[in-house]
Amino acid sequence: MLKEIMVLSENIILITGGSSGIGFELASRLSKLGNTVIITGRNLAKLEQVKLQFNKLHIIQSDVSNPDDILKLYETIVKDFPGLNIIINNAGIMRNLNLHDESINLQDINREIVTNLSGPVRMVQQFLPLLKTQPSAAIINVSSGLAFVHFPISPVYSATKAGLHAYTQALRVQLKNTRIKVFEIAPPGTDTPLQDNFVGSAETGPMMKVDKLVDVILKGLQNDKKEIRPGLANLLKIISRVAPQFALKMLSKPVDQMLSNQ
Ligand SMILES: NC(=O)c1ccc[n+]([C@@H]2O[C@H](COP(=O)([O-])OP(=O)(O)OC[C@H]3O[C@@H](n4cnc5c(N)ncnc54)[C@H](OP(=O)(O)O)[C@@H]3O)[C@@H](O)[C@H]2O)c1
Repeated sequence: MLKEIMVLSENIILITGGSSGIGFELASRLSKLGNTVIITGRNLAKLEQVKLQFNKLHIIQSDVSNPDDILKLYETIVKDFPGLNIIINNAGIMRNLNLHDESINLQDINREIVTNLSGPVRMVQQFLPLLKTQPSAAIINVSSGLAFVHFPISPVYSATKAGLHAYTQALRVQLKNTRIKVFEIAPPGTDTPLQDNFVGSAETGPMMKVDKLVDVILKGLQNDKKEIRPGLANLLKIISRVAPQFALKMLSKPVDQMLSNQ
C-alpha cells in the first residue's frame, strides 16, 4: 500500500506562538512553501513587528493559557479561514524554578502547565470538529527532548513536556480512524529567545540552530515521521531507555550547583 505523505503546500496552518523562535521560523518557511499561515502570541506589538517583516503572515493576538481566548480564536478562524486544516501547538514557556523559594505563589507555580500542556489540550478539543471536516488535516504538537529525560532545574516545564508527549500518543490512537494525522516534534536545545534566561545549557549540549531544526522538522513531516526528534533529542530518547539514572544525574548539575549556593 502506498504511504500517504504530508503535502506541505496549499494548507491553512495555525501556529500558536509564531512571533519568535521556532514558531516564527516554521511560519516563515511554511508561508514560503505556499501555505496560508496564521500566527498567534500574547504580545500584539511583537506580532505586528513580524507582520512588518512578513506581510503574508496573518496575525491574531491570543493567549493559549486562556480558554476564552481559545474560543475567540476558533470563532475568528471559522469565519475568516474555514479551510484551516493544520494546527501547530508550539507556544511554550520555560522557567528555572527553585522549589525552596517560598515566595512562589500558587497562582504562578503552574504557569508552564496552563501554557504548555492545558494550552494544546484545549486547542485540540476546540479545533477537532473543524479539522474533522477537512479532506486532510494534521495536529502537530511541539514537546521537547526534555519529554524523555527530565531537567530538575525546570521541574514544571519538564512535567509539561512529558505530559504533552503522553497526551500526543493517546490522541494519535484516538484519531487513528480519522483523516487527521498527529505529529510530535521534540526539539533539542535550540538557539531561540526561550533559552535567554536558561542556566546550565552546557549540561544539555550545544544549541541547535533554529533554521537547521526547521529543515529537519519539514523533512520529517514530509516523510510522515510521527515523532520527530532532531539532533540531540534523539540521543536523549535513547539515553532515557538505556541509562535513565545517568541522564538524570547529568541533567541535575544546575540543581546541585543551586543547592550548594544556598
Ligand atoms: N528553544 C528550545 O531550546 C526548545 C527546546 C525544546 C522545545 N522547545 C519548545 O518549542 C516551543 C517554541 O519555543 P521557542 O524556543 O521558539 O520559544 P520563544 O522563542 O520564546 O517563542 C515562544 C513563542 O510563544 C509565544 N507564547 C508564549 N506564551 C504564550 C501564550 N500563553 N499564548 C500564546 N503564545 C505564547 C511567544 O509570544 P508572546 O510572548 O508574545 O506570547 C512566542 O511567540 C515551545 O513549546 C518550547 O517549549 C524549545
